[in-house]
Amino acid sequence: MKMEFGNMKMLLAFGLVTAFCINVETANAQDKPKGTPWAAPAAAAKEKNPVKSDDASIQEGKELFAQHCKSCHGAKGKGDGVKAEKIDITCGDFASPEVKKMTDGELFWKTTEGRKPMPSFKDKLSDNERWSVINFIRTFK
Ligand code: HEC
Repeated sequence: MKMEFGNMKMLLAFGLVTAFCINVETANAQDKPKGTPWAAPAAAAKEKNPVKSDDASIQEGKELFAQHCKSCHGAKGKGDGVKAEKIDITCGDFASPEVKKMTDGELFWKTTEGRKPMPSFKDKLSDNERWSVINFIRTFK
């Protein structure tokens, strides 16, 4: 009996070490805790994107994203930009099912309002520029 208990402890210790190693290996921006739930008001979420998602809009969105968003959200929208390291919550993953199921209106509203540490882009980008950034975000896979 005593012997068995010792084995159990060994097993447990081994399990913990393994779990720890796996955790360290996969540590990335997405392992950071999420911020508190953040939902756009229903009316804002319903708003339709008035800017057609054509090449010109996506290209414009890409340039604006590189200038204003990439530092935190990362080149591929994975939330692994250079500034993300200093932020204690995840910036999210724009290619995740969670973000994919958000409406353009929702993403637009969040981009407009921001939420600390994310700045508001209400005065930094025009409405059409923000919609184009959303068109670009939609291209992330
Ligand atoms: C200083 C870093 C920073 C910059 C710059 C920044 N963001 Fe964010 N963003 C964040 C953080 C952090 C969150 C998560 C906020 C929260 O959960 O409270 C976030 C969340 C979001 C979300 C919501 C994602 C979700 O899962 O709900 C959208 C959409 C978004 N950002 C778009 C943008 C766009 C577009 C730009 C550029 C125009 C931008 N952000 C620039 C840090 C940033």
